[in-house]
Amino acid sequence: MSNNPLRPALLAAARSPRIERGLTGLPVTRRIVDRFVAGETRAAVLDTTRELLARNRFVTIDYLGEDTLDPDRAQRVVDEYLDLVAALGALSGDDSDLARPLEVSVKLSALGQALPGDGHTIALHNARKIVEAAATARVWVTIDAEDHTTTDSTHAIVRELRRDHPDTVGTVLQAYLRRTEDDCRDFAAAGARIRLCKGAYDEPESVAFRRKREVDDSYLRCLRILMRGNGYPMVATHDPAMIEAAALLATATPRGREDFEFQMLYGIRPAEQDRLVRLGQHLRVYVPFGDQWYGYFVRRLAERPANLMFFLRSAVPGR
Ligand code: FDA
Repeated sequence: MSNNPLRPALLAAARSPRIERGLTGLPVTRRIVDRFVAGETRAAVLDTTRELLARNRFVTIDYLGEDTLDPDRAQRVVDEYLDLVAALGALSGDDSDLARPLEVSVKLSALGQALPGDGHTIALHNARKIVEAAATARVWVTIDAEDHTTTDSTHAIVRELRRDHPDTVGTVLQAYLRRTEDDCRDFAAAGARIRLCKGAYDEPESVAFRRKREVDDSYLRCLRILMRGNGYPMVATHDPAMIEAAALLATATPRGREDFEFQMLYGIRPAEQDRLVRLGQHLRVYVPFGDQWYGYFVRRLAERPANLMFFLRSAVPGR
């Protein structure tokens, strides 16, 4: 989370179909999107996965799409995840060393959580299908965190799924939410696998810290709880200060390298990713694919003024 003054406007743009139509039509956009997204097809993301595994990274794959208001689209997302999980299962075969490296990340809003009426139940039902297939294929599933209006429903679904599949299902907690320290305590006590990130949505002051300093402090408090807890922390950040804090905490607790991992987004800080792998740390790369990349892409622009400037410079002809 940066102090970028344009962040709220960009995050609003991430949800605007009109701006989406304009931006996705620009010829330059595709080239820049490719820095953050591993292609539109399953074949493309599986190629990237093989490449990352060969370079000693773990992988989590996100089939892009969110805020689905069409039950048919939600079903297509489930079908894509089922095919993906089957392909990942085939990739690992009987190799037990590959049981942990392969994961999918799922947004419940893509599975119908926002559908009017019984969106919560539909999302639970759809997520369960993916989790059952993943458990059979020995692929992990992490449920992404979205805007704060979905948090209660998402946590309830995660708890329900973890009842039958505690080893398969993990979830994401966002340090910018004021509630997250308590959520860390609850999930850590339950031994859950938790990805801690700062949070990528534009949230009101009433529920979230909005200043970078406050978010960073909250991240560190949450990190301490997770690293000292019973679960498996997944430290999702590109921030050198948070990375260093996690490494220090790991040495100050009985937790060894095997008992937690770092996570970064595809295309972001590749040199830092290399450094962590060289140090023997577990590092998972979050690899998105699919044609619904707009919201994901604009959130990345909002995170870092340099990403936005790079995009704008490339988009303005004659520069
Ligand atoms: P932040 O953006 O505060 O950056 C801090 C510092 O990191 C910068 O000052 C700079 O030093 C360095 N840095 C950051 N980006 C850099 C770059 N491109 N190049 C060089 N240096 C850079 N969010 C969410 O709401 N729900 C979710 O489910 C997820 N899932 C998720 C998975 C994974 C694996 C990751 C890594 C992140 C997420 N996120 C997320 C996104 C997350 O909430 C957050 O928006 C981004 O990770 C950016 O925050 P950072 O912690 O990286 O630090």
